[in-house]
Amino acid sequence: PAPTQDELKAQVARAALAYVEPGTIIGVGTGSTVNKFIEALATVKDSIRGAVSSSVASTERLRAIGVPVFDCNEVGELGVYIDGADEIDGHGHMIKGGGAALTREKIVAAQSRRFVCIADASKRVKVLGAFPLPVEVVPMATARVIRQFSEMGGNGVVRLRDGAPLVTDNGQHIVDVTGLRIERPHDFEMMVSQWPGVLTVGVFALQRAHVCLLGTPGGVETLTF
Ligand code: A5P
Repeated sequence: PAPTQDELKAQVARAALAYVEPGTIIGVGTGSTVNKFIEALATVKDSIRGAVSSSVASTERLRAIGVPVFDCNEVGELGVYIDGADEIDGHGHMIKGGGAALTREKIVAAQSRRFVCIADASKRVKVLGAFPLPVEVVPMATARVIRQFSEMGGNGVVRLRDGAPLVTDNGQHIVDVTGLRIERPHDFEMMVSQWPGVLTVGVFALQRAHVCLLGTPGGVETLTF
């Protein structure tokens, strides 16, 4: 039988262990694929000094398996950042933030020499934008940011949880935008990042992936960018 999406995620999570250098502090992202990576990391946890995490959820999971978690400001440059993606194109540009952790993900990625993206094959796209683009926005600016996206053909909505706006780890809101076709991710990221009230746009082009371990029915494919 063909492997399930869950099995593909577990395969790439195990493959990512090859990028974990003994004696170092690694960057760890957020999401269901990363949760599998943290499970796999448990088997080699004594070989690393610790981790920097991109979310409260991942911090709790890392501590639960006995990995010391450091603050970004306590450590220098990290060798590797391992995280999932919602979409990844042929240049390592990604959409991230489906788990609402995009701001901290971009911060930890920016502090790391190499971004290793772990994803199942469903995440691989030609052009970014089919997945609703997450944008973390200061609450008082969400309506105007949504109008700015509508001027370019996008349809934004404030992400809800239990009927109220979801509040991120940073105390902000998330606007999810559909209807975009992001042909020039780099320019797009630079433009939207400058809109007043935007904390982080979920396009990762400046902080693109350098390696993608892609889980396919035929096995793990290693893409380098
Ligand atoms: C979290 O904010 C996201 O950027 C995740 O990396 C992304 O949503 C991938 O999550 P899954 O591994 O659960 O698909």
